[in-house]
Amino acid sequence: MKTHKVALIPGDGIGPEVIAEGIKVLDAVAAYDGGFSLEFTEFPWGCEHYLRTGEMMPADGIDTLSHFDAIFLGAVGYPGVPDHVSLRDLLLRIRHDFDEYVNVRPVRLLRGAPCPIKGVSQADVDMTFIRENSEGEYAGNGAWLYRGTSREVVIQDGVFSRYGTERVMRYAFELARSKHQSLTSISKGNALNYSMVFWDQIFDELSQEYADVETHSYLVDAASMLMVRDPARFQVVVASNLFGDILTDLGAAIAGGMGLAAGANLNPERVFPSMFEPVHGSAPDIAGRGIANPLATVWSASQLLDHLGHPQWGARLIDAIERLLVEAKTLTPDLGGTASTQRVGDAVVRLLAND
Ligand code: NAD
Ligand code: IPM
Ligand code: MN
Repeated sequence: MKTHKVALIPGDGIGPEVIAEGIKVLDAVAAYDGGFSLEFTEFPWGCEHYLRTGEMMPADGIDTLSHFDAIFLGAVGYPGVPDHVSLRDLLLRIRHDFDEYVNVRPVRLLRGAPCPIKGVSQADVDMTFIRENSEGEYAGNGAWLYRGTSREVVIQDGVFSRYGTERVMRYAFELARSKHQSLTSISKGNALNYSMVFWDQIFDELSQEYADVETHSYLVDAASMLMVRDPARFQVVVASNLFGDILTDLGAAIAGGMGLAAGANLNPERVFPSMFEPVHGSAPDIAGRGIANPLATVWSASQLLDHLGHPQWGARLIDAIERLLVEAKTLTPDLGGTASTQRVGDAVVRLLAND
């Protein structure tokens, strides 16, 4: 029997609460299937670990993770540790060091999910964001000059390589082609006279090569407006690291909230493990109360199953989430219910059994 080795990083705040439900659901899937098993190894890395040891993960952490088939992560970052330390040294480090350059974030309104925009139906919100996940505005280079003086200056460099830009755009073009959908590029070439002019140029070049794919290009400010005014225009969307980050929180808001937003950090060549995680953070405002919505994590688990070669189970998980939303009996407070995180996880398992 095939065994998939999955590294767990529950992380901080609501991370462990939602990951527990993700594991519960994945365990149920493996048991129902009977043809494969999942072997989980948990790593207690995160802000508490940092406060104890001075590091977010051990020096050989990346090497340790490299032996797994996938990584399942809750959330990282908590008051008490500066965000740029906790995130750079753990989450962003994993994305970068494992060359997880494609961040797939579905912005899809599932059946039964609430949409705050008037007159929008389920078919109108069906986007797949492809966020560049390895460079761009997140490259992490810069300088802090004359620190603490009145002449203080900071510089934050973005890095856009042809290699890095082309490969993520190619992934998006191939996806759009296979889904028979349009591809929209998000840009800001009118103000960012190097990075986004370059981005637009490469998108134009590839548009000629993928002449069969319908393409659009919007400035990021206009795109934010249009995602709310007319979400149906967007299908597959490719965006830089920062623009993709921001627009996928907006996307979450129009597709049912942060509790329903999932993401996969893919190394498409499979040289390194890919990582699956909800889009949301550690939610310190609700952490420890057992009310976090685990459905984003369950959706990420569905992406994990797709990646491990079990797309039929990936689809069944989405179907179970939809039935739970339509049934509207077992939902957490963010979706208007009174159920606990654990009860929602139990309900997903129950619905999987009644397939
Ligand atoms: P957040 O996503 O943690 O929370 C934003 C809002 O959404 C909060 O009101 C929260 O209660 C709500 N929310 C988020 N997830 C929810 C869920 N599953 N169910 C119900 N409500 C949910 O964003 P933030 O407050 O800006 O960030 C908190 C910390 O998390 C910061 O340290 C930040 O850097 C970090 N962060 C980490 C990740 C990650 O690990 N991938 C992502 C975003 C933010
Ligand atoms: C996300 C998060 C991270 C990001 C932060 C926590 C560094 O917001 O996964 O969307 O910006 O990528
Ligand atoms: Mn984000």
